[in-house]
Amino acid sequence: MSTAPSALPLLALRITAGPVELRGITDDLLGLIADLALDIHDPDFMPFFGPWSLSSPQDMPRVVAQYYWGLRASFSPAKWSADFAVFYEGELAGVQGFAATDYLILRTGETGSWLGRRFQGKGIGTAMRQVICAFLIDHVGARHIASAAFADNPASLAVSRKTGYADNGSEPFNRMGKPATLRRIVLEPASLVRYQHPLTVDGLPPFRKSIGLEEETARLSRTVRCFALSEPLTPHLPGQARPVAVERGFRGICRPAHPVFQRASRFA
Ligand SMILES: CC(C)(COP(=O)(O)OP(=O)(O)OC[C@H]1O[C@@H](n2cnc3c(N)ncnc32)[C@H](O)[C@@H]1OP(=O)(O)O)[C@@H](O)C(=O)NCCC(=O)NCCS
Repeated sequence: MSTAPSALPLLALRITAGPVELRGITDDLLGLIADLALDIHDPDFMPFFGPWSLSSPQDMPRVVAQYYWGLRASFSPAKWSADFAVFYEGELAGVQGFAATDYLILRTGETGSWLGRRFQGKGIGTAMRQVICAFLIDHVGARHIASAAFADNPASLAVSRKTGYADNGSEPFNRMGKPATLRRIVLEPASLVRYQHPLTVDGLPPFRKSIGLEEETARLSRTVRCFALSEPLTPHLPGQARPVAVERGFRGICRPAHPVFQRASRFA
C-alpha cells in the first residue's frame, strides 16, 4: 500500500549527528512546530523575508501547516524544498531547510533556519547548519550552498561564517515597508566546517530518486557506455573533425575530467 513517505520520501528522511537529528516534517510535527514558532524573536526585529513569525497563536497552526503542505504539494525534481524538524537531545528545537530550483543542472540551493528562542545561543544553530551542509555536499552532491541574512542579524551571519560560507555581496531589501540590507553568502564544499559528529542518513535512496538523481546517474551511465562503445576517448584537437558522439549532442558529458562524469561514477 502506498503511504505518505512512499509518495514523498522527504517525509521519511532522517539525518542524525550526535545530539542533532533532522527529520522530514510529517503532519504529527506541525502542531509542535507551530507552538515553537510563537517565540522566535522580538516583535520589533524581523529576521525573515515575510512576517509569518508574527502570526497570532490562533493563526500560527494554519500558517505553519499550509506552508509545509504547500512545499509538499509543489515538490518536484525541477523545484524542491527539503525542510527538516530539528531535534536536539531528543527535543524539538527548530527547523532547518534547503530550497533548490533546477538542482540537477545547477547543484545549488539556499539554506534557511530558525530556532525557538529558548534554544538559541547554545551552538545548536551552527550544529544544524553544519549537518545539513555536510548532508547536501556528501549525499546529494551540492556544489554551492547559498544563504542570506539581514545585516542586523549577527547570529545568523556568525553561524554562516562558522560553517565556512563566504561573503557574496549585499542588496537592498524591502523589509515590511522599510529598507534593509540583505547580505548574501555562499559555501563551497572545500570550505565546509564540519560538525564534530559524523552523519547517519536513513531513507537516502528514495529521497535521491525523488529529486531525480538516480535517473540522472542512470542516464549518464548509458551515455558514457554509448560513447565508450562508439568512440575512443581521444582529445579533440583544433582543426580536426569533432568525434561523432560529440556532434550528436553529448558535448561535455562524456569527458572523463568533467565533474558530472566523476559524480556519476561515484554514485553508480
Ligand atoms: C540565527 C539562529 C538560527 C542561530 O542559531 P544559534 O543556535 O542561536 O546560534 P549559535 O549559538 O550556534 O551561534 C551563534 C553565534 O552568533 C554569535 N552571535 C550571537 N549574537 C550575536 C551578536 N549580537 N553579535 C555578534 N555575534 C553574535 C554568537 O557569539 C555565536 O558565535 P560564537 O559561538 O563564535 O560565540 C538563531 O539564533 C535563530 O533562530 N534566530 C532567529 C531566527 C533567525 O534569525 N533565523 C535566520 C534567518 S536568516
